[in-house]
Amino acid sequence: MSEQKRGSRWTVKVLTLFPQMFPGPLGLTLAGQALEKGGWALETVDIRAFARDKHRTVDDAPFGGGPGMVMLAEVMDRAIEAALETACRLPLIHLTPRGRPLTQTRVRGLAQGPGMVLLCGRYEGVDERVLEARGAEEVSLGDFVLSGGEPAAIALIDACVRLLPGVVGSARSLAEESFERGLLEYPQYTRPRVWQGREVPEVLTSGHHDNIDAWRRAQAEKVTRERRPDLWSRYVETREAGR
Ligand code: ADE
Repeated sequence: MSEQKRGSRWTVKVLTLFPQMFPGPLGLTLAGQALEKGGWALETVDIRAFARDKHRTVDDAPFGGGPGMVMLAEVMDRAIEAALETACRLPLIHLTPRGRPLTQTRVRGLAQGPGMVLLCGRYEGVDERVLEARGAEEVSLGDFVLSGGEPAAIALIDACVRLLPGVVGSARSLAEESFERGLLEYPQYTRPRVWQGREVPEVLTSGHHDNIDAWRRAQAEKVTRERRPDLWSRYVETREAGR
């Protein structure tokens, strides 16, 4: 049984040096409405509040030299301890380009669990020992570098929250979207039927639902084959295994 069915609220705690970045865009749209209604909960933990010296130091130069600064294990550990004190069942996730690439399967798993504690690093990174000691899972949004984990945390939270029961209206729209069937999404059209001389594909206005489904599947396969050979190979393998 998922955690939501048991009635506990899906909760995210974000450890950050920039708590003012939250809820940010998560306070708007469907996620924001659900947050306001208590459908999920968001808490920030200001990492700097756990620095103990008078300058509130949170980082130091890397051993071995090199550019940038590394976030201190001791400060991070105290912040993690504080976050987990009231949420010890939540998985601890460090957002970093060194992490395993995020997938819709992982997002679904997180949305079905009790929530998550997100660790947003800045500078060159976080002292490896605290990540090891706390068993943090490292997650990346893709092969590019953001200036910190916060925008990645916002994206991950958004991806999870929209899957919570009652946040997005239709279960059908969730089931049909990109990745849910191992394919990218087919193209969509709305009125007018002709725009700047471009016509909507005729089949979509035919009213023939079997033909529409077949056309959409063919389009989803075409776009996946062209843009994502990695997804396409997996899709073909699964399809062939199912025969
Ligand atoms: N922090 C910086 N870059 C990131 C990325 N690509 N994914 C997740 N966290 C990050």
